[in-house]
Amino acid sequence: MAETLQLIKGSREGRYKVLLPQISALIADEPDLIANCANIVAALRQTFGFFWIGFYFVNDKDNCLVLGPFQGDIACTRIGFGKGVCGTAWQRAETILVPDVEQFEGHIACSSASKSEIVVPILFNGNVRCVLDIDSDQLDDFTEIDKQYLEVMATNFAYLFSNG
Ligand code: SME
Repeated sequence: MAETLQLIKGSREGRYKVLLPQISALIADEPDLIANCANIVAALRQTFGFFWIGFYFVNDKDNCLVLGPFQGDIACTRIGFGKGVCGTAWQRAETILVPDVEQFEGHIACSSASKSEIVVPILFNGNVRCVLDIDSDQLDDFTEIDKQYLEVMATNFAYLFSNG
């Protein structure tokens, strides 16, 4: 798998087209949510080299998001409902593209190196169960292409939440 991922080159869309089936295959035989999320962020990091990629899981008891598997610098562990880009994506149950984090009111800066961001919620049975947060150190680094493919990826692995 690691060797295969290193071979993914070309446009960002081309890379998603190769990567998504690989991620589906990677998680197909493994039911453990954390193990699969860990490999997904590693695969995204290997393919695109983004500055920070990670999952935040909904914690119903405390009504907040809690940090899950990630690749990158240490990050905030808890984010409240409706707070920051992640908490807002959870509240709206929709993807948020942020071309310039300084222009997003309430953005939570875990690192000053982060310049743009995309947050994709993952829903199971109509409820947001986690969000995938990707940060770039480049301004305006995410487009509708990222949204489109990351949402497909999110849909493809949402079944993992059936185990709780
Ligand atoms: N920027 C996020 C916080 C998480 S870090 O980027 C890893 C937000 O505003 O919710």
